Order: sequence, then structure tokens, then C-alpha cells
Amino acid sequence: MKIDYIRNIGVVGAGQMGSGIAEVAIQSGFQVVMMDTKPEFVEKGMARIAGDLERLVSKSRLDEQQKKERMEKISTTTLLDELEGMDFIIEASPENLSIKCEIFGKLDNLCRAETILASNTSSISITKIASFTQRTDRVIGMHFFNPPPVMKLIELIRGLNTSDGTFEITRELCIKMGKTPLSANDYPGFVSSRLIFSLMNEAIYALYEGVGTPEDIDSIMKLGANHPMGPLELADYVGLDTVLSVMKVLQEGLGDPKYRPCPLLIKYVDAGYLGRKTGRGFYSYETSKKQ
Ligand code: CAA
Repeated sequence: MKIDYIRNIGVVGAGQMGSGIAEVAIQSGFQVVMMDTKPEFVEKGMARIAGDLERLVSKSRLDEQQKKERMEKISTTTLLDELEGMDFIIEASPENLSIKCEIFGKLDNLCRAETILASNTSSISITKIASFTQRTDRVIGMHFFNPPPVMKLIELIRGLNTSDGTFEITRELCIKMGKTPLSANDYPGFVSSRLIFSLMNEAIYALYEGVGTPEDIDSIMKLGANHPMGPLELADYVGLDTVLSVMKVLQEGLGDPKYRPCPLLIKYVDAGYLGRKTGRGFYSYETSKKQ
């Protein structure tokens, strides 16, 4: 089977990853149906995509007509059932095994036999997610990075039973989306999250133990390691709930105490300080600007 059969893509989740992935897909010429559970979630996702395209218009990289055509390529729904006819599906729901397994089980019943079901999970076993379907050969990890329209990498993860055909089509799809696919084996956190999230968690420990202020920790990593964002700023950007979920997967899956989530991270998540999306994390955000 060749990549050309993929004309439309279903995206499950309209949050920062889902809407970013949907934006990448329409920019690459695909028809997209973006699904989330509540109308306000899909509206927010659509507003984010429209805002991004508007920014491209203001930079003269798109004209108004192209923006209109791109926006016409995407429709939204709050019903998973409406993804029935999709050629390829990318799931970008919260980092929670039971949510993902329920979605994959339902999609498996709904979708045509040849439809590939990809998960944007940052850490959860693809083999495990696939086990909730009858098509374990057509389930794959397709891990985008935030913000998806900007970040070049897609980490591809094969479950134990993912077929060569599924891998090859997904790899070609990444290239068609203008991305660089690199593969990692199916172990907790794969390569990227094992390293990136461990750094964020360690930075939170450094804050918790009084080694530095948030500004010091972030500035040291920006100026000393040339990171575009400091690890605490990045944690706020990714979402502290996601950081905690990924650390729990690493801790449970790898069993090494070095992956234990910092108590300060747990406390912040309990308090609803989830980073940028709630206006408060290690920094405060008003109109999404860091303070
Ligand atoms: N959507 C689309 N485009 C965006 C964007 C967004 N959300 N944010 C920034 N951009 C674009 C800007 O329009 C700008 O484009 P041009 O250069 O073409 O004009 C470009 O990105 C640079 O933006 P800015 O000048 O506003 O800001 P910046 O130089 O500070 O870059 C950044 C912003 C790209 C986010 C940069 O800070 C960065 O790379 N940060 C680190 C991101 C990172 O590490 N991501 C991985 C997180 S881990 C993860 O995602 C895994 C997971 O599983 C959750």
C-alpha cells in the first residue's frame, strides 16, 4: 500500500498537540477532521489554528485566499464515530492509558481494516495501546513535539507487532508533512521523553532543594547549554500534568527511583498549577506571556 491512499486524517484531541498536528496536516494538503469531547475544546483548537495561519498571513507567507482554503480543509466534531471514514488517524488525547485504550478500542471497531491508528503518546507503550485493538500490526507511535508546526522531529515507535508496511507508510507521511522521522524502540518514554522529561523533573528537584530560583535554573540552561527554553519554562509550556504523567510512566515502567516525580511537581498539579494553560505554573502567565 502506498502513501497516496491517505487523503484525509482524523485527529483525536484538539489541545495544543492535537490542534498543532491538525494544522500540520492541513498545511500538507490533507483533509482533516479534528475531534474532541466538548464544543469549547474544538473551538479553542480551531482558534489556535486560525491564529497561527493569520500570523503567517501577517508575515506574507500565506495570502488570505490560501488561509481560507487551508481553513476549509478542516472540520470538527465531538463524536468519535465521525472519524469512521478516515484513512489515517492520529490520537492526541491526554497522557492517560485508560483514555487511550478506550479510544483505540472504539476506533478499531469503527474504522476500515486498512486504516492505521497512530498515537501521539509521549511515553505509553505502543504495544499496550495496540493490544486494545484487533489490528496490532496497524498501530504505531507517531510522537510530535510542541509546537508541532515548528518542531521538525517525529519520533516513530513500533509496537511489538507493528508491520513493516505500517511503519513505511507512517514514515512517508511524516516526510510529506515536512518532518524528520526518527525511530525509537517501544520502552517507557522512548528516547525523547526519557531524556527531556528527566531533565525537567531534575530541574524541579533543583528548585525544590533550593539550588536556584526558577529564573536562575532556566537562564543557566539557556545560556550554558544553548537550550531555547529553560527546563522549568518548558515544563510550563508542555503542561505540568503531562510532565507528571510521563514521570509516572517512567518510574513504573523502568522501576528506577531516579525517575520518581518531584514532590513539588505533584503539589503543583494537585493545586491546579498546570503551567501556561491554567495561567500558573513555575511562572505566572497573563495573556500567555511569561512573568
Ligand atoms: N505554533 C506555530 N508557530 C509557532 C509557535 C506555535 N505555537 N510558537 C512559535 N512559533 C513560530 C513563530 O511564529 C516563529 O516563526 P518564524 O521564525 O518562522 O517567524 C518561530 O516559531 C520562532 O518563534 P518566536 O520567535 O516567537 O519564539 P522563539 O524563537 O522563542 O521560539 C519556540 C519559540 C520554537 C517554542 C522555542 O522556544 C523552542 O524551540 N522551545 C523549545 C521547544 C521544545 O523543546 N519542545 C519540545 C517539548 S517536549 C515535547 O513536545 C514532547 C512531548 O511529548 C510533550
